[in-house]
Amino acid sequence: MWTRRLGIWEFTTGPRNIRVCKRDNPTMAPGVETLTLAACAGGVVLAGAGFLWQKACKKPPIWVSQLDQLGQPRDKLLPGTVVVCGGSVAGIVAARICADHFENVLVVDPDIENPGNRILQWNAAHLYLCLFVTGARRLWKTFDDVVKNVGGRILPADLQIHYSGVELPTPHKDYAAGDLPDTLLLRRPSLQKALYSLLRGSPNVSVLPGTVRSFQPSSDRSVVESVTVRKSDGSKENLNDVALVVDCTGRLQGGFKWLKSAGYNIDDKIKCSYDPNLRYMTCAFSVSPELEARLPIPAAQRSTPIAYVYVPHDDTQSCFLGLSMNDGNVIQILFGDTGMGYLPQASNELLPFIERFRGQKKPLPPWLTDTVQMLVDEVEPEFYPINLNMLTFMQYHLLRPRTLPSNFVAIGDAFLFLNPVHGQGFAKAMLNGITLNALLHSLPHSSQLPANFSTQYFNDSADPMNALWDATRLHDYGSTNCVPMPGETKETGWVSRWLGEKLISSSTRDDEVASALWHVRQMLASEKTLLAPTILWKVLLTPSMF
Ligand SMILES: Cc1cc2nc3c(=O)[nH]c(=O)nc-3n(C[C@H](O)[C@H](O)[C@H](O)COP(=O)(O)OP(=O)(O)OC[C@H]3O[C@@H](n4cnc5c(N)ncnc54)[C@H](O)[C@@H]3O)c2cc1C
Ligand SMILES: *[C@@H]1O[C@H](CO)[C@@H](O)[C@H](O)[C@H]1NC(C)=O
Ligand SMILES: *[C@@H]1O[C@H](CO)[C@@H](O)[C@H](O)[C@H]1NC(C)=O
Ligand SMILES: *[C@@H]1O[C@H](CO)[C@@H](O)[C@H](O)[C@H]1NC(C)=O
Repeated sequence: MWTRRLGIWEFTTGPRNIRVCKRDNPTMAPGVETLTLAACAGGVVLAGAGFLWQKACKKPPIWVSQLDQLGQPRDKLLPGTVVVCGGSVAGIVAARICADHFENVLVVDPDIENPGNRILQWNAAHLYLCLFVTGARRLWKTFDDVVKNVGGRILPADLQIHYSGVELPTPHKDYAAGDLPDTLLLRRPSLQKALYSLLRGSPNVSVLPGTVRSFQPSSDRSVVESVTVRKSDGSKENLNDVALVVDCTGRLQGGFKWLKSAGYNIDDKIKCSYDPNLRYMTCAFSVSPELEARLPIPAAQRSTPIAYVYVPHDDTQSCFLGLSMNDGNVIQILFGDTGMGYLPQASNELLPFIERFRGQKKPLPPWLTDTVQMLVDEVEPEFYPINLNMLTFMQYHLLRPRTLPSNFVAIGDAFLFLNPVHGQGFAKAMLNGITLNALLHSLPHSSQLPANFSTQYFNDSADPMNALWDATRLHDYGSTNCVPMPGETKETGWVSRWLGEKLISSSTRDDEVASALWHVRQMLASEKTLLAPTILWKVLLTPSMF
């Protein structure tokens, strides 16, 4: 069975794959798939089709073209209330978008005024991809000012990622000076504060501190008719006149539970999970401005969103390291580990731990170890450990049409909870929002949602969500302690891991490959880009440097 990962088709076995592949519906024309197969197998290039193939692969993905509609209100608002369950990033993006389409939007979250209690990764180091920043600017004209007010810095997205010490280039040459798409440097709690203040400024959006407890279906189950909320004082309230329910409850994935309790016949098999056995540790150093100025971080790295990221090449000891200089004079050092069962927990363990990164392709830059040394000598850091258990994809698109109530959608981690190693969480929530917005705009004259609205939303979301899920999952299978999904093994995806190494190697040498990889990582291009003949042949011909 051939599956997709990083845009490359590969052979895998196992019942789970067969099921997924049969139902999975790639946007690529079948001819493209066949050509890719042929190229992979024998280096055969069909010259006549090559041009069209190249064009198809390099076309901007649908969600990038749909950005133009983001933030555009419809002519006549739809009646009723949108109930957004969860008011973190996905909930705030969803509420803002729905306010362009519906008369009333209500965000329900027990922690709406004091967020973070139910968010495991609240204090973890975060970076935000270009798609998130681009989308947020469309939704809120004042986004830049508001984030700057809480200490955020808008910076070109040069992420300083080093594989085994070798830098993955940023495509500065593709853009005129100063035009490289932006990202944001801001700690998660500060960003969330900014987003909340933007939400409060959106007309026709209100908030209700409370916990969603259940959904009540209409008698024919075609829609969710009301939503029951337990308010902070313990009393219950039924929210009626529901036009749309949006599940934004993050990794708790409340919608799935509530739909089942409400009697919807949702097969447990749509919930796919694997256990990456991942641990993250964020060390936060609050430094004085004087110490910050003295740190030996080079000027260039002081104006990139991350000063340095190190990813070792050996997956079996896949432990990575990142350092960033944040708002409020907080320096964060992030470690992630899937292999060795140990992450530093105290200040004096940091340097000995980092020592282990020596002996790779290129050593860590001396300024990095010197910086850590100075931080350890002068400041007591705070440690924020996180154990990630199951990563889950709610494959609602696999349900038969109309199994779901027509007015249910899920956005953010409630839909797909990924390994956060690529920092995709916020951009993924934005992508879901873009899909929802485009679908709502495609119904200009309706006064209510069509019976297959939910089916259509999940169908439209399936390709990009599958691509993200496949790429991170199959990569994770290469690490020692990862426990694959039922029906898959650690072998699943070996071809894509092998090609992935060639891709990274090739990107350190070739501008076109580097640019494609950067755009895919920033979610500004689809992984199909990597299939363009001019890129594919370079990747195939480059021996892995690892
Ligand atoms: C270690 C780690 C590092 C990460 N790093 C990055 C990164 O660098 N960049 C990035 O973009 N992403 C990163 N992520 C992912 C990112 O944090 C998530 O994708 C993001 O938080 C998802 O937002 P969300 O709104 O979907 O869910 P959450 O942020 O989890 O919010 C869920 C909300 O739902 C509310 N809720 C729960 N139950 C109910 C209920 N019954 N009723 C009402 N409300 C409810 C909660 O109170 C909460 O406010 C990281 C994740 C982890 C674990
Ligand atoms: C707010 O909702 C009312 C109807 O409830 C509608 O008439 C008005 O246009 C909405 N305002 C905005 C800015 O969307
Ligand atoms: C939903 O219905 C519309 C109109 O009837 C149709 O064009 C569309 O293909 C349907 N979508 C799905 C996913 O079935
Ligand atoms: C579902 O999505 C796929 C692409 O993801 C598309 O080819 C197909 O036409 C969609 N089905 C409907 C009914 O819209």
